[in-house]
Amino acid sequence: MARRDPSFICQNCGAAYTRWQGKCDACGEWNSIVEEAAERTKIPGRAPRKGRLFALESLTGNAQDAPRLASGVAEFDRVTGGGFVPGSVLLLGGDPGIGKSTLLIQVAAALGRGERRCAYISGEEAVAQARLRAERLGLAHTQVELAAETVIEDIVATLSEGRTPELVVIDSIQTMWTDLVDSAPGTVTQVRASAQALIRFAKRSGAVVILVGHVTKDGQIAGPRVVEHMVDAVLSFEGEGSQQFRILRALKNRFGPTDEIGVFEMTGSGLREIANPSELFLSERELGSPGTAVFAGIEGSRPLLVEIQALVAPTSLGTPRRAVVGWDQNRLSMVLAVLEAHCGVRLSGHDVYLNVAGGLRIQEPAADLAAAAALVSSLANAALPSDAVYFGEISLSGAVRPVAQAAARLKEARKLGFARAVIPEAASSEGGGDQGLSLEFVDSLTALVGEIAGRRTEGRRRGRM
Ligand code: TYD
Ligand code: MG
Repeated sequence: MARRDPSFICQNCGAAYTRWQGKCDACGEWNSIVEEAAERTKIPGRAPRKGRLFALESLTGNAQDAPRLASGVAEFDRVTGGGFVPGSVLLLGGDPGIGKSTLLIQVAAALGRGERRCAYISGEEAVAQARLRAERLGLAHTQVELAAETVIEDIVATLSEGRTPELVVIDSIQTMWTDLVDSAPGTVTQVRASAQALIRFAKRSGAVVILVGHVTKDGQIAGPRVVEHMVDAVLSFEGEGSQQFRILRALKNRFGPTDEIGVFEMTGSGLREIANPSELFLSERELGSPGTAVFAGIEGSRPLLVEIQALVAPTSLGTPRRAVVGWDQNRLSMVLAVLEAHCGVRLSGHDVYLNVAGGLRIQEPAADLAAAAALVSSLANAALPSDAVYFGEISLSGAVRPVAQAAARLKEARKLGFARAVIPEAASSEGGGDQGLSLEFVDSLTALVGEIAGRRTEGRRRGRM
């Protein structure tokens, strides 16, 4: 028997040490180092194997487009890039209770409908519980094979028997363990070894394996980051606990784009696909209240309209608060700085809060103009026209710059009943003019501020009459 040195592994990053220490030198995390038995590197009693020779090939072979296995859940397939690639392994992360198990049982059921063999292995729930959920979702009649198992060797042996399943869901990777390693389930070594075994099974058999991964308090997929590097795609299922919509996004995808999102709504009977998310994100809009602007954005290949809300309120604090949800804190600071420096808007005595409605997270710089409009509208206490959308990037000089895909944004706005768009001038050259919207061009932030301030005095004058 080979001697196995104890090793101390950081549960955050997977770095190994020979003795315990309070802080991981590799990632800087405190108190994350746990003693684990090392992986067996040598199989006792067997001589090391000599390397086998294999043929090397050139790049110019016949490259087939990876065949896709569409699940039938359109919002899910959109995120994976048009369906699963056989033999690929996906990791799905998300907060507890967000709906990962629900989503995957629905995906498995949808695939199972097409005479495909799907297996759902739960390490967290008993078969009866999983069955109860399926019944509640109206999926009890579909042919998904259920099991409550946690030993990887048993799972791989069972799945290798008979016809290879097209899809295997492992819920969750943290509950699985393999005999090869002595550490407890959920530790870095176990998770990594279990994931490795499942990846080997997927590559060998051509089955698609989806691993569910838990998420830690700070939003990382728990266990080793290395699992993220091992799998073909990392998906994240997100949402505000209090709200009904859920967003699926790809953080990594070897076979497709990472900028597409899938939108779902959690209902009493499972997750419902939202094919037109703009309607959902705008559905609870309060018309005519100051501090809100509608941003015409693009998520992946799909235009998406979303409301941006701002509150600018006088503060008694020495350092005013700047809080932002759903947008980049640095971009907010930049927009505020441009407003102060070029537009004469004094904000140092005000707290500023910015929120993207519906729990959506916007990454596009195109949202600058809408955010600025919402901020100025709140400060001036003047509501923006409720039938207008905004988009445009703001540069440090205060100029409003054109953004990509203006025509698609305008088209979506038109479709949802908006009548005008406040946009940078150059956007019209992209063929935005014939969308049936009245276009208002702003070339600088100063012009926008002037226009909104003008609305306020106009409103007052009308009020007096
Ligand atoms: P679940 O899929 O178990 O979450 P996860 O696997 O990510 O931990 O979902 C649990 C939550 O979803 C639970 O709070 C109840 C809610 N839910 C519904 O609202 N409707 C449903 O039809 C189902 C099955 C769950
Ligand atoms: Mg679950």
